Amino acid sequence: MGRFQRTTRKLAQRINLNYFERPHPLRRWRLLLSLALPAAAVLWLGWHGAARDNRVYSSGALSSAHAVLAAECGLCHISRAGVFREHANDQACLACHDGPIHHANQTFTPSCASCHAEHRGPVRLAAISDRNCTQCHANLQARSGPPAYERIIEGFSARHPQIGVLRTGKGDPGTIKLNHMLHMKPIRVGPNGPITQLECEDCHRTPAMNEPWRFAETKPAITPAAAKPDPLAPAPTRALMTPPKYAKTCAACHLLTFDRRFQDNEVVPHDTPEVIHGFLVKKFAAYVAAHPLELRVVREPDRSVTGRPVPASVRVLTPLQWVAERTAEAEELLWRKTCKQCHALHFPSGAALPQVASSNITVRWMPQAVFDHEKHRMMTCVSCHAGADTSQATSDVLLPGIATCRSCHHPGEDAAGARCFECHTYHDWSKEKSVKGRYAFHNLLGVSAARAGEPSQAK
Ligand code: HEC
Ligand code: HEC
Ligand code: HEC
Ligand code: HEC
Ligand code: HEC
Ligand code: HEC
Ligand code: HEC
Ligand code: HEC
Ligand code: HEC
Ligand code: HEC
Repeated sequence: MGRFQRTTRKLAQRINLNYFERPHPLRRWRLLLSLALPAAAVLWLGWHGAARDNRVYSSGALSSAHAVLAAECGLCHISRAGVFREHANDQACLACHDGPIHHANQTFTPSCASCHAEHRGPVRLAAISDRNCTQCHANLQARSGPPAYERIIEGFSARHPQIGVLRTGKGDPGTIKLNHMLHMKPIRVGPNGPITQLECEDCHRTPAMNEPWRFAETKPAITPAAAKPDPLAPAPTRALMTPPKYAKTCAACHLLTFDRRFQDNEVVPHDTPEVIHGFLVKKFAAYVAAHPLELRVVREPDRSVTGRPVPASVRVLTPLQWVAERTAEAEELLWRKTCKQCHALHFPSGAALPQVASSNITVRWMPQAVFDHEKHRMMTCVSCHAGADTSQATSDVLLPGIATCRSCHHPGEDAAGARCFECHTYHDWSKEKSVKGRYAFHNLLGVSAARAGEPSQAK
């Protein structure tokens, strides 16, 4: 303070007795400014007005996605009789992109602007506040009947339901028998192969992972013609795992061999019993044509099923009889042992061939939420799928619970996001309507900006 203390004495010393003649510099400035500032403001407003630039009313910069629209407020603020209106109109938003309805069953439809808050600077517009969801979900009402989903959800950390399949306890509906524990221990490759250690990735991959499969078929049954890549095909994602395929993940170890007569472990195609039956008949017919001596079938004396001694006998079969007998033998082995190891087979009475139950491997376990393995690739698989290396039955559900998610997704600076939009979509994008562009350069960028950037003939 000291030096600048305004005492009466110091003030008196500063008073200029001739102040009437010699205007104080500060007073002159005050006068000038009091006249010039309003004038500048009027000029500025008028100038912007003439250029139809409404930025003067603006309360903050637009989001990154809309930044380019800053010169044309009227794209969102549809003015009436030239008067600027504060409210952004839903129809204005829909002129550029659809925002399909959330649920046919909702009791009202909030306005676009109530969720996608604008003029907050270069933020992500879709990063909406939880209140926009809990206005309905904290006490869910449906247009017709009681709501089909959890009625009270207040926040991911506050009150939020368990993953559906864990809540209902229905179990894994898949029918492929797989003992995870057995396969995660050191295990033999094929009947006489080396011992190996399997990894989860030997059977579970996202569509985007394109390294060769370690245990795929050595000789694919049908070699597909090399297809040209389709440049319009959507890029494969890394979000969810593709269901394991026999040909990619089991074939090298579990061979579908059917008869020792065929060298190099020749196998039947991994297909329906009807296809396999046709394959076997053709194979054996060709074989016996090349080896006619085999039609003479010698039964060994000690080969009795009942244990009673049976004299050696010789039968001479027709080729058709021989093929039928060999096919039946091979099928007995396949249906009762080989296929049955992995499949549930039904033998409808009267039918010659069994039916293989649909494998029914679930592709998406959480239809009501989004999940992306790629975003969690820094973790080991079993840190979420605890039990995947000790489970012995297919019916076990190996998914993590909501508590696992909460250990990282919770409010706070040092956490992964925990707002509703991180894990859920709002819009039902399957119902999106396409929107046809309707604005020219000058509509979007303003007249002056457009002149600078536009090809001359377009204006
Ligand atoms: C991409 C669409 C969009 C454009 C372009 C746009 N706004 Fe907005 N503006 C909004 C939305 C959304 C709101 C929130 C309105 C509501 O609550 O209905 C808003 C609100 C406002 C408000 C009210 C105060 C506030 O911050 O909520 C003002 C003032 C405003 N805008 C001025 C402008 C001006 C000036 C321009 C042109 C420079 C402009 N806006 C361009 C979307 C837009
Ligand atoms: C003149 C055209 C135009 C208008 C009007 C417009 N938008 Fe957009 N919007 C765009 C474009 C272009 C993008 C960026 C491309 C994209 O994501 O489709 C975008 C992106 C978005 C996004 C995704 C971007 C993000 O950061 O998450 C949301 C949400 C959005 N707009 C909401 C709105 C809402 C709400 C309104 C009305 C207040 C509106 N838009 C009005 C053109 C427009
Ligand atoms: C209850 C809040 C809510 C309302 C109301 C709402 N949105 Fe959204 N919007 C979201 C959320 C959350 C997302 C991000 C998740 C998603 O895509 O569903 C989003 C995403 C978007 C996107 C971006 C899609 C992308 O490219 O990522 C657009 C565009 C959009 N909304 C437009 C609209 C329009 C237009 C309206 C009004 C007809 C509207 N929204 C109403 C919550 C809302
Ligand atoms: C206007 C009210 C309303 C708002 C706002 C709302 N919801 Fe919903 N939500 C509903 C209704 C109604 C249902 C369906 C209830 C039924 O069919 O029984 C539903 C269903 C759901 C479902 C389960 C069904 C499905 O489609 O996956 C999820 C998840 C969901 N909402 C998340 C959200 C999120 C996240 C937000 C905020 C971005 C939100 N909701 C905002 C009313 C709303
Ligand atoms: C030899 C191949 C193989 C290996 C190795 C393997 N799995 Fe599986 N896994 C399967 C098959 C087949 C299914 C489908 C049948 C079933 O549900 O058990 C499956 C199902 C699953 C499922 C979804 C079904 C459920 O019940 O939750 C998860 C999750 C899973 N495995 C995780 C893992 C993890 C983690 C590892 C590594 C520790 C692993 N698996 C190793 C073959 C394998
Ligand atoms: C690296 C080699 C290897 C791979 C790959 C492999 N398995 Fe196995 N599997 C074995 C061995 C070895 C056994 C134990 C010996 C036997 O009974 O065949 C076995 C046993 C089994 C059993 C019987 C388990 C029990 O509890 O008796 C089933 C069922 C099975 N595997 C299914 C599969 C399925 C389905 C796949 C592909 C998704 C697969 N296996 C991939 C090597 C493998
Ligand atoms: C080592 C395990 C294993 C053996 C042995 C096996 N399969 Fe499979 N099978 C699978 C797996 C895994 C699938 C599901 C994915 C696929 O299509 O490869 C499957 C799928 C099938 C399907 C399609 C089922 C559906 O979902 O519609 C048929 C049919 C089938 N197998 C028939 C057979 C027959 C017949 C045999 C015996 C010759 C056999 N499989 C032997 C593992 C096996
Ligand atoms: C970290 C991720 C995450 C966050 C954040 C999150 N959820 Fe969920 N939510 C899930 C998962 C996972 C499920 C189970 C989905 C399933 O079983 O299909 C779920 C299920 C739901 C369901 C369906 C309930 C039912 O009865 O099946 C609704 C509705 C829902 N959440 C609303 C919300 C709302 C509202 C918020 C914000 C307050 C929110 N969620 C935040 C992950 C999340
Ligand atoms: C952050 C936890 C987390 C980690 C880490 C994780 N998973 Fe998952 N996994 C999930 C969730 C959640 C689902 C259910 C997703 C869905 O289907 O909606 C799932 C689903 C699966 C399924 C069933 C098919 C599918 O995609 O829905 C398999 C198989 C699987 N995971 C294997 C793996 C393997 C292999 C790894 C390691 C490379 C792994 N997971 C790492 C959480 C995780
Ligand atoms: C070890 C910590 C950890 C665990 C456990 C975890 N997450 Fe995450 N999750 C992350 C991180 C880190 C990100 C990326 C940063 C972000 O989006 O906040 C992320 C991102 C996500 C995203 C956003 C993906 C996107 O497309 O942007 C979803 C959805 C999600 N997690 C769901 C889940 C669910 C459901 C579970 C429980 C089954 C789970 N997470 C468990 C750390 C974790």
